[in-house]
Amino acid sequence: MQASLSHDKLSRVSQLARAITDEVGRAFIGSPHTTEALLVALLARGHVLIEGFPGVAKTTLVKAFSATLGCHFRRIQFTPDLLPSDITGTYILDMRTNTFVLREGPVFTNVLLGDEINRAPAKTQSALLEAMQEQQVTIEGETRALAEPFIVLATQNPIEQEGTYPLPEAQVDRFLIKLKMGYPLPADEKRMLMTYDKPPPAVRPVIGPAEVLEMQALAQGVFVAEELVDYVIALVAFTRAHARVYLGASPRAGLALLHASKGLALLRGRDYVLPDDVRHLATMVLGHRIIMTPDAELEGAIGNSVVAEALDKVGYKMPKGPNQQQQRG
Ligand SMILES: Nc1ncnc2c1ncn2[C@@H]1O[C@H](COP(=O)(O)OP(=O)(O)O)[C@@H](O)[C@H]1O
Ligand SMILES: [Mg+2]
Repeated sequence: MQASLSHDKLSRVSQLARAITDEVGRAFIGSPHTTEALLVALLARGHVLIEGFPGVAKTTLVKAFSATLGCHFRRIQFTPDLLPSDITGTYILDMRTNTFVLREGPVFTNVLLGDEINRAPAKTQSALLEAMQEQQVTIEGETRALAEPFIVLATQNPIEQEGTYPLPEAQVDRFLIKLKMGYPLPADEKRMLMTYDKPPPAVRPVIGPAEVLEMQALAQGVFVAEELVDYVIALVAFTRAHARVYLGASPRAGLALLHASKGLALLRGRDYVLPDDVRHLATMVLGHRIIMTPDAELEGAIGNSVVAEALDKVGYKMPKGPNQQQQRG
């Protein structure tokens, strides 16, 4: 569990993270924290669900971020008539050889944009969610492994909108992070409107698949002090004991928070997690995994507010990690 990554490696990762954020910023005008959250998921080998009203630049953000990664990229536009096989693939008859050959679906890629995922029915959504969970798909009884790295960046409209199929509650936890994108800050919106008549800049790749895998391996090696494990356990326990919660955060949710925190620590140039990393990510990692009681839901209470309450009420001990004496941050 004890980590000590070289200073060179640590500064290289934060340098790349900054370069990616700058490059994304050429197409997407908004907070660098948004890009940071996508990077956290990438390093933690997780997936991201981005929720927001139409026109807040969800697709723009994902396309720009994907372009910086220099990896194989596919996009699936979810529609009501999309079939599971439109995601995974199908066997087609090859006339020359008179045999069936697999035509791989768009899930066979490194970076997948699942756009407006809640516009397709549950069966089709599940084909993608299962692939995310298992890192493989089974087509006509034959199992195929997905590529590595593999990250899904899905977008959806808020579920109250008409013509949408909410993602199955039991499966939203396939997403490591759920990001809510609101309207831009007035200054950002103005900047966007002032530049609308210029062609959008082409976003350039900053890294490639090999570097993604390398950074993922580094993130895995980030140190987590026992005090921080206790902190995560206490946060998760708080959500389970909450009176207005029907189903609290699972053990998988706690694990997800630890993984994500390691990714964030690395992005911020450290090889050890700080309580602030956990606190910064807790809402976006835990919030969507909490199911409120029907009464609480009717009143508009959401998982995010339970996590906010947990952060407010659950205390933590500062870790005495091995690196505390020689902080590099
Ligand atoms: N914050 C922003 N930064 C850059 N472009 C934006 C921003 N907000 C809106 N736009 C512009 O508005 C349009 C809609 O964005 P889009 O990514 O399609 O939104 P969404 O996928 O959320 O519906 C695009 O042409 C985009 O360039
Ligand atoms: Mg869109």
